[in-house]
Amino acid sequence: MGSLKDSINDLLGQVQQMQANSAEELEALRIKYLSKKGEITSLFNEFRSVPNEQKRELGQLLNQLRQETETRINEMRERINDQMANDQMVNDLTRTPDPIQLGTRHPLSLVREEIEDIFSRIGFTIAQGPEVEDDKHVYGMLNFAPEHPARDMQDTFFVEKEMGVQKPTDILLRSHTSSVQTRVMTSQKPPIRVLCPGRVYRNEAISARAHCFFHQVEGLYIDKNVSFADLREALLYFSKEMFGPETKIRLRPSYFPFTEPSAEMDISCNICGGKGCSFCKGTGWVEILGCGMVDPNVLESCGIDSKEYSGYAFGMGVERITNLKYRVKDLRLFSENDVRFLRQFESC
Ligand code: PHE
Repeated sequence: MGSLKDSINDLLGQVQQMQANSAEELEALRIKYLSKKGEITSLFNEFRSVPNEQKRELGQLLNQLRQETETRINEMRERINDQMANDQMVNDLTRTPDPIQLGTRHPLSLVREEIEDIFSRIGFTIAQGPEVEDDKHVYGMLNFAPEHPARDMQDTFFVEKEMGVQKPTDILLRSHTSSVQTRVMTSQKPPIRVLCPGRVYRNEAISARAHCFFHQVEGLYIDKNVSFADLREALLYFSKEMFGPETKIRLRPSYFPFTEPSAEMDISCNICGGKGCSFCKGTGWVEILGCGMVDPNVLESCGIDSKEYSGYAFGMGVERITNLKYRVKDLRLFSENDVRFLRQFESC
């Protein structure tokens, strides 16, 4: 029965070479070899008339051939199915997309927006100005004497400056957003009620408690008959909205060149509720902002008649408020962009 053995080997050779690129081609191969009328099946039919002494050898070969064919076809089927599933996914525009890790709002943006929101409810609008400013808008018009130490190189980052000479046109990175207030006062007529949020720069060594840039929100209100009581009322409203209705405030006399009188404001420590803890150093109070009545010199230098108008101003650090609200202990975390830190504020 040499011819059956040859046929088996011949088919085995074919089966090892067979290729299918689609489900249809694969089905055609299955029919060709394994169906009832397929070539392998007909070899099994021939096998019936093989003499007994050859049955063992040929039977084994035939079984191997069938097995090999089935294995090859199954492998090809798997590959084709995978390919089809993949094609379908790529072409299906309605499929659910892979989940993309979304970013989260930065805590400083969240807190800045909350401050903006609170003041916008009592009529403040947002004003913005350049971070690279001139001396006139940051210091000169704000009643800083020519030799005021705040201008000192240790505080201010100068961009363009002649050493040893102080000019209104010196270019610097603003060290407070009061510069936006001078721009508003020179371009708008009272009543003025603006909030000036923004980044400011000071030449400080970077540590857990200080950075060379930080963020402020300053406010300015100018109208007829604006009084210190109005300032106090606005700040009390803000403090209760920001830190809770039980919050108390305390104003301590202070000094700023651009306000007279000037004050610093403390709120009752929102960690111990005013009893005294390590955060408020046992005092029950924490300082959160500077404020005062706009100095008449400032109004005049901005072209506003100080006999007709008066105003108040205040300024706070957004990092400070954020630390108080969320107890962030190291300022540097705000600018390191570590998503593990930033994600914690997602749902705040
Ligand atoms: N400009 C002050 C600062 O940067 C804050 C301030 C603003 C104080 C307005 C009083 C009034 O520290």
